[in-house]
Amino acid sequence: MTTTSVRPAAVPDIEQMPVPPLRRSREIQGNILAAFNKDHMAFRYVRFPDDKGAGGRGWLSVMLNTVSVTATVEDFNEEFSLSRRAYGQDPSLTATWVAVSLTYDGLLQVAREPDRVRQDLAPFTSFVKGAAGMAAELGDEGDSAPAHWIFGSDKNAVHAVLIVAADTRDALREKLDNIAAADSAHGITVVHQDDGRTLQGELKGHEHFGYKDGISQPGVKEFHRGDRDNPGFRENRPGSRLVEPGEFVFGHRSESGDPPADRPGWLDNGSLQVVRRLRQDVGGWNEAVAREAEKFVPKGIGPAVLGACLVGRKKDGTPLDPGDNPVTGVGSGANDFTYTKDPLGHHTPCAAHIRRTHPRAFEPTQKHRIMRRGIPYGPAYTPGTPDKDRGLMFVCYGTSLEDQFEFVQKLWSNNPGFVPGDKKAPNGIDKVSGTTSDGSPDARIVLANNQGEGTVSMDSFIRTTGAVYAFTPSLTTLRRLAAHTSLHGKG
Ligand code: HEM
Repeated sequence: MTTTSVRPAAVPDIEQMPVPPLRRSREIQGNILAAFNKDHMAFRYVRFPDDKGAGGRGWLSVMLNTVSVTATVEDFNEEFSLSRRAYGQDPSLTATWVAVSLTYDGLLQVAREPDRVRQDLAPFTSFVKGAAGMAAELGDEGDSAPAHWIFGSDKNAVHAVLIVAADTRDALREKLDNIAAADSAHGITVVHQDDGRTLQGELKGHEHFGYKDGISQPGVKEFHRGDRDNPGFRENRPGSRLVEPGEFVFGHRSESGDPPADRPGWLDNGSLQVVRRLRQDVGGWNEAVAREAEKFVPKGIGPAVLGACLVGRKKDGTPLDPGDNPVTGVGSGANDFTYTKDPLGHHTPCAAHIRRTHPRAFEPTQKHRIMRRGIPYGPAYTPGTPDKDRGLMFVCYGTSLEDQFEFVQKLWSNNPGFVPGDKKAPNGIDKVSGTTSDGSPDARIVLANNQGEGTVSMDSFIRTTGAVYAFTPSLTTLRRLAAHTSLHGKG
């Protein structure tokens, strides 16, 4: 039978456009390209029993049945946002997502041929050394040193990281109960668990210092649709440049070209995950920002202005950059700016967190982008109350720790010699996420139109309290690890 369907004239564009191929992937785990985006996210850091990997493999086979794949997560996300757009409120759709990653030691424990895995991973030096092994280079010293970490150091080593994401606390608990049963059946030790929770009320979508987060992310070719009027950028996301997928998922074309033919195939469709538990001292930050703001001449600029200068956006997300396009470049979700009109940092100081971590037009390549998937943990700050354990579960994905996360942290955030900017004015370090052991070099800020200038002299108010580097394998690789078959076989 043939049916002729008459489509209404105003069919949403999205239905007419071809689906980008990676959008359908059932190989790539969720949360790498398709964000979990849930209000409740548990992070479980586990260690396998010392039984030649049997317990770890048994546990992985249970996880395999529950792990979420890109196509499922993105279908959900698309339906969610379409219905939010249509009805103006959050629909009552729910889902619980799971992702599993393995550290270098975890991989060697469960793999059938650990020597070959060791060989394959030898070029990935930071991954092999692990987050604790790289700590000193990244400024994780003093209070942030691995000796104080609650997971990820030698004394509380981790083999696997499990992320469980749900819409409600009850749904999360239900899933975690099932997982706890699998843990005990396979002799798994839970080294630590963190409970990520989006902040509520006026702070919804904001991090603990009070700034809106999760605005700027790279677009990904073959996963996101391109903007027909603005090639190279993501559809519906002005300013969001499309980056080659191989920057985030192995086995695909990257900004450096096609993947090498002789690569270890078992890495394909997997990604490297960075997890950092960054405790934030909100009272300390507020006090320091208010104090330093008063030092500006000819008169104090107030904490709201200085705070925005240090982040690069106001608390509601509005960027300080004048914007490249008067319509899309302003507003709290705006991302359409490149700092080209502000080479010396008189609008967005060169110390500003978002300028440090993504210098935009001043960035020669797109090889240093990261896919951020963080969520706050701990209770919201109430002024006047003693410091509590709260902060950001910083999570990001990429295919090179050295060129992506570590590059951003080390060469941009922690680097007082950061360029561009006015070379006569010291840049200091990124006061939001910079981590150095040699104090926190001052940053000189000179605002446009004689609005004020001053030297900001304040410590960092974040502390690393745990960190892990892990590999988030494809479903095929996960299956092979669980089944104890060779990672090097065909098919
Ligand atoms: C507690 C620590 C941190 C806080 C409070 C924080 C806060 C923020 C905020 C408020 C934004 C602006 C929202 C947005 O553009 O999405 C942002 C953006 C960003 N952050 Fe962080 N962040 C932290 C740690 C880090 C770390 C450790 C890194 C990487 C090493 C990082 C990399 C980025 C990047 C790449 C952006 C987007 C910049 C852009 O594209 O304009 N952040 N962060």
